[in-house]
Amino acid sequence: MPIPDSFIDDLVSATDIADLVGGYVKLEKRSGSNIFALCPFHSEKTPSFAVNPDRQMYYCFGCGKGGGAINFVMEIENLPFRDAIEIMAKRVGMTVPEDSGAGSDLAEKRRRMLDLNRAAARHFHEMLSSPLAGDVRSYLAQRRVSKAMVTKFGLGAAPDSWTLLLDAMMGKGYSKQELIEAGLARSGQQKDGAYDMFRNRLIFPVIDVRGEVIGFSGRIIGDGEPKYLNSPDTIVFSKSKNLFGLNLARKSKAGMLILTEGNMDVVALHQHGFDSAVASLGTSMTADQARLMSRYSSNAVIAFDSDEAGKRATLRAIPLLEKTGMGIKVVGMGDAKDPDEFLTKHSPDAFRTLIEGSENHVEYRLMVIQNSHDTTTDEGRLRYIAAATELLSELGSKPEREVYGARVAKTAGISTESIDHEVEKKIGLRNGRERREQEKRIMQPAGAARGSMGSPGNLKQHSAAAEEGLIRSLIKDSALMEAAAEMGFSEEEFTSDFLAKVFGVLSKRISQDRDTREALVLSEFENDEAERLSSLLNKNEALHPSRQTIRDYIDRIREDKFKTKEPDSATLLELMLHKEKKDIGGN
Ligand code: GTP
Ligand code: MN
Repeated sequence: MPIPDSFIDDLVSATDIADLVGGYVKLEKRSGSNIFALCPFHSEKTPSFAVNPDRQMYYCFGCGKGGGAINFVMEIENLPFRDAIEIMAKRVGMTVPEDSGAGSDLAEKRRRMLDLNRAAARHFHEMLSSPLAGDVRSYLAQRRVSKAMVTKFGLGAAPDSWTLLLDAMMGKGYSKQELIEAGLARSGQQKDGAYDMFRNRLIFPVIDVRGEVIGFSGRIIGDGEPKYLNSPDTIVFSKSKNLFGLNLARKSKAGMLILTEGNMDVVALHQHGFDSAVASLGTSMTADQARLMSRYSSNAVIAFDSDEAGKRATLRAIPLLEKTGMGIKVVGMGDAKDPDEFLTKHSPDAFRTLIEGSENHVEYRLMVIQNSHDTTTDEGRLRYIAAATELLSELGSKPEREVYGARVAKTAGISTESIDHEVEKKIGLRNGRERREQEKRIMQPAGAARGSMGSPGNLKQHSAAAEEGLIRSLIKDSALMEAAAEMGFSEEEFTSDFLAKVFGVLSKRISQDRDTREALVLSEFENDEAERLSSLLNKNEALHPSRQTIRDYIDRIREDKFKTKEPDSATLLELMLHKEKKDIGGN
């Protein structure tokens, strides 16, 4: 939205991707036109992350992440488009034009909301020493939160009042509407009435890794509902993409992040010297949060509550974290309900011992499986064996499978060989299934994008491959667009919405006489799409597409449409005419 296209093109052209990426990862070795590095987006030991200075693109052959300079900054800094542009512009000494159009309103609005949040955080923090906040102070004392932590986390007080914050912020020039949009106030009964969202609460500001106050979490003083109130998602805050305490934990030298459920757990852990604790913001762990964590550490220690909900949350978090390549441990709280309580009952050393002696996630999951089956009955044992061997079959390393296999065999009271056999069988089944799925994905990329529309069958797959080939060729040599135009080919003929979109972007650039270099085309796509596009561009194909290549692809796309759909007579006529022309024209 309204940063002029020409500025973005200039910015991408002024940026050297190798230079840019080199600021984040060590570019290790050159091979052909690529420079390889260890991928910053997944964990690996040998470099499969390729930066291509000629094409100004990056692509990871391991995890499939890819795109141009803008995508890289968005991905690695976890920033929206506009902010990524700002960072990149600053890097090369360009200034993002401030246009007065509707688009920059959003950036301006975000800026103002962040300023408001900061002012509100300061207000809450100052309130903590006001006579109105006696209850909050005693609550902090009762929970044994130290002065140092109050300062470190910028904790604050929302006294039991209806408009304290509103009045203070309106005094600073913010409107009711702005407070409502920031989730700091709610609109009331009267026409333009409003009241404070946070009342009678201990306030935890949520601060992101850039140090911006993006939201708040408020714990009720004493009993009451809801116990915790979190800011709603706003234009600057997304609960599922941030973690409480990460602004502090990211600076830790501990070599691991400790993931807890509660804000209070985070504060207690930091207070006792565990400065790498974070918490998800009152939602269950998300893939985004896992990825965010993996950016700051390669090890995670899950320290959730000891109740059933905590166990379930642990089992949900494990695969998400595992997918990021992080090493995972799970600590049980023993006789305490959560880390906070553990630290009031025991010493920090005890917690340290807990972490050191904690189970890795395999042990933990096996234990949960064991606890949920009655292994004293035959039927229970069979179910236990089925669940445990399923888990074993997911383990990547053979020694791991052997060690835990032996343990499962012992618990189940059967031979290790039987367990091994069962596990191997499951691995075989899964490999077969995965191979089939992968084949399907490769064969039918367009169908996948179409979702429900993709009708199965070879014809569609055939067309999908042709569609991809067409796009790849047109990006390689945009002059070939002419050949497509001559055939009257249009966006609507794609079965894949995604490829249609790429085609649209290309045609538009060409018609506006703008550059169609890969890096620039990529800049028009958000990360998921940029990833798909760069994966497509990285598939090797005939390097020199000709006008004939384009015509062949289009023919194939049209033939397939003809075969898959019941053609109406107009299409049929068109096809026949086209075929005739080709027969006569002969090229
Ligand atoms: P206390 O020690 O009792 O202050 O709480 P806690 O920090 O141990 O949190 P608890 O285990 O009760 O809950 C874990 C997290 O879930 C909290 O930090 C909140 O983020 C979230 N949460 C708890 N209760 C509520 C609630 O009533 N509403 C919402 N939205 N979130 C809640
Ligand atoms: Mn607690």
